[in-house]
Amino acid sequence: MKASNLTTSISFFLNAQHIKVAVSPETTALGLIRNELGKRGTKESCSEGDCGACTIAAGELSDGKLNYRAINSCLWPAIRLHGKHIITIEGLSQGEELNLIQEQMLEHHATQCGYCTPGIIMSLFCLFTRKQSPNKQDIVQALEGNLCRCTGYQPILSAAQSITELLIGKKHTNANHILPGYVSEIESKLVSHSEPIKVIETNAFQGRDIHGYYVPRTLEELHTCMDKFGDPERYRIVSGGTDLMVDININRNFPENIIDISEIDDLSAIRIKQDSISIGSGVTLTSIIEHPGIREKLPILRETLLLVGSEQIRNMATLAGNIANASPIADGVVALLGLDADVTLLSKNGRRNVKLSDFFIDYKQTDLQTGEILGEIHIPIQEGFFNFEKSSKRQAVDIATVNSFCYLKEDSGLISDCRFVFGGMDKTVRLAESCRPVVQGKKLDDRLILKCAEAAVKEFEPISDVRGSADYRRQLVENHIVKHLHKFLSINE
Ligand SMILES: Cc1cc2nc3c(=O)[nH]c(=O)nc-3n(C[C@H](O)[C@H](O)[C@H](O)COP(=O)(O)OP(=O)(O)OC[C@H]3O[C@@H](n4cnc5c(N)ncnc54)[C@H](O)[C@@H]3O)c2cc1C
Ligand code: FES
Ligand code: FES
Repeated sequence: MKASNLTTSISFFLNAQHIKVAVSPETTALGLIRNELGKRGTKESCSEGDCGACTIAAGELSDGKLNYRAINSCLWPAIRLHGKHIITIEGLSQGEELNLIQEQMLEHHATQCGYCTPGIIMSLFCLFTRKQSPNKQDIVQALEGNLCRCTGYQPILSAAQSITELLIGKKHTNANHILPGYVSEIESKLVSHSEPIKVIETNAFQGRDIHGYYVPRTLEELHTCMDKFGDPERYRIVSGGTDLMVDININRNFPENIIDISEIDDLSAIRIKQDSISIGSGVTLTSIIEHPGIREKLPILRETLLLVGSEQIRNMATLAGNIANASPIADGVVALLGLDADVTLLSKNGRRNVKLSDFFIDYKQTDLQTGEILGEIHIPIQEGFFNFEKSSKRQAVDIATVNSFCYLKEDSGLISDCRFVFGGMDKTVRLAESCRPVVQGKKLDDRLILKCAEAAVKEFEPISDVRGSADYRRQLVENHIVKHLHKFLSINE
């Protein structure tokens, strides 16, 4: 890998300090903050988004207020810090006075070797800036992406619950309880931060052997950028970066150029219509999960996405990235195929719509053509029963061994329509075609459920790998079908 000689000037706030610095495309936020800016409380361990030791709070303005999200800084290119307010563990205490979260972690003996502690505190910080009285489930969800080898988690949960009680009862004596005092000043500085993020460099369109990082702000700029490189081998699109950055970190395989589409406003909307929902390719999983229209019209999508990765991963990842990555086990894809979604592909020549079921061609191969990006996902709003199942070794931050989705429609006690989708059983996520003829037009009972499971098991020829043997996978298919259909029966009893 040749070192880059293209640097980009970025400007952001780190704790109470304004930072202006030139960074190279390969520098991660973690590398900059920890190694170059000396905030060594932000730890490095896995570099794959798994452990949470590198968690930072990334603040962005929304209606004039800073909204903080927990981010794995090992998976964020440093360029993305531009225009943000970043808080690290060093920014929480004010002089001798600890932040309430730090204080309660100490009080509850929630730290031993301490390696995970800054990341855990930053995850809790982001939670408490949004919710003053989170319940236990909120706390567990906020900490899903933080591993601790020493404490067994119980003291950490106790500390978090105690913070809630102190905040509700306003019993804390600590003036610096959650938000550090300097935040309001940074808010006003960011509002008047006249210079928008301007990281695309006109002289950056250069030849091979130089790594470039491009941040188009409009679709027009994006197409100009893609056109300039022409050959898709010369660039990679990055959206949330949770797949691409892991690949770069593990394989040290930096693409010749990266085109970062996360700043394109036209890709950032969720549109709820009468009969469908459209989700822009730049929308993060967290934004989908928190959207009131999705909660009301498509709760199954929310429930499915809550099982993807961790809070930190969902704060960065997009559904479009889950699709374009074309993994045969992607949770979002399993749900979207079950929901009969289609996608809009955008290029400088226009747009085309493709059924998601036709989008995946082979292992890691899609119908995306040169010069195209995935622009929008469309999901029809339908009546019926929907269920997602995921079997993985861990409940959170784990890729499934097998995942599946079931859609059923019933008319006068008979199944009038259905879709069963499986991930982890073939080269792509796909429909289990053999289930439909078994259940269509029939009344569901235990005998039919077993026949349906038998048909699905016969249809797939899975491989054995680190996540499970072929036999284990077949058994999971049977279990999933039985689970889906029993859930349906229990709801319709
Ligand atoms: C710790 C960890 C846990 C994870 N857990 C899960 C899990 O439980 N379930 C699961 O399904 N996945 C999981 N993932 C994988 C990943 O988070 C998801 O696949 C995510 O949705 C990818 O989205 P992204 O925006 O981050 O993609 P990126 O990394 O930005 O991109 C992924 C690929 O898609 C391409 N791409 C992205 N957007 C577009 C676009 N609009 N048009 C064309 N190409 C595009 C990129 O070039 C790249 O090849 C996990 C990842 C990590 C690191
Ligand atoms: S170092 Fe493990 S998640 Fe970033
Ligand atoms: S205190 Fe040692 S890893 Fe958590």
